Amino acid sequence: MTISVKNDYHIEPLLSEWRTLVEITQPEAHALLLSLSDDEVRYLVDRFYDYMLNDEQAHRYLNTRQVTEQLSISMFHWLRSVLGSSQQDLAALLAQQHHVGVVHARIGLPIDLVARGARKLKNDLYPLLTHKGEQSPFVINSALCFSGLAMDTALEAMTIAYSPPIKMPCAIRNGIVY
Ligand code: HEM
Repeated sequence: MTISVKNDYHIEPLLSEWRTLVEITQPEAHALLLSLSDDEVRYLVDRFYDYMLNDEQAHRYLNTRQVTEQLSISMFHWLRSVLGSSQQDLAALLAQQHHVGVVHARIGLPIDLVARGARKLKNDLYPLLTHKGEQSPFVINSALCFSGLAMDTALEAMTIAYSPPIKMPCAIRNGIVY
């Protein structure tokens, strides 16, 4: 499947790298991420919005009602789909990330805030996973690695919405570089 998300920008490399990441990750690590309870995922969502609502810059883009009624639910589903991406249609998931990027860009949300949000989510997810005492350190490491890289891939797809289309001079397009 060919997916073109913005003008001439294709995200096939992201798609094939995400597929490879899914394939090389131990099934037990996928199972661990899929087994996170609703309460555990909600905990990550709540920590995220508590942080953002208390941040001087971030809170300007949010209001409490919108967070309670709409954004917390969107973030819950986002976490489930990205952490559980072994069970997802990755092309559709990547297109969804681009859509989220467009939504953020439309409201003028600075991309560094989005990156900070992802760092916050990872920072809270890691101790949650490392305290899964019933799992081997190898499986936990694998789940940590997968979750970080899957979130990074999603974020990268979101940032495409912020990049201006590349306009190459004719000389470069025709293979002449000077
Ligand atoms: C890892 C970081 C983030 C993720 C994964 C994320 C995820 C999402 C998702 C899934 C949506 C719903 C998109 C849709 O309508 O289909 C959304 C919308 C939104 N996000 Fe984020 N978000 C992130 C960071 C942030 C931050 C840092 C803020 C503000 C400080 C923010 C503010 C908003 C707002 C206001 C909307 C709704 C915009 C609208 O409907 O007009 N997001 N986000």
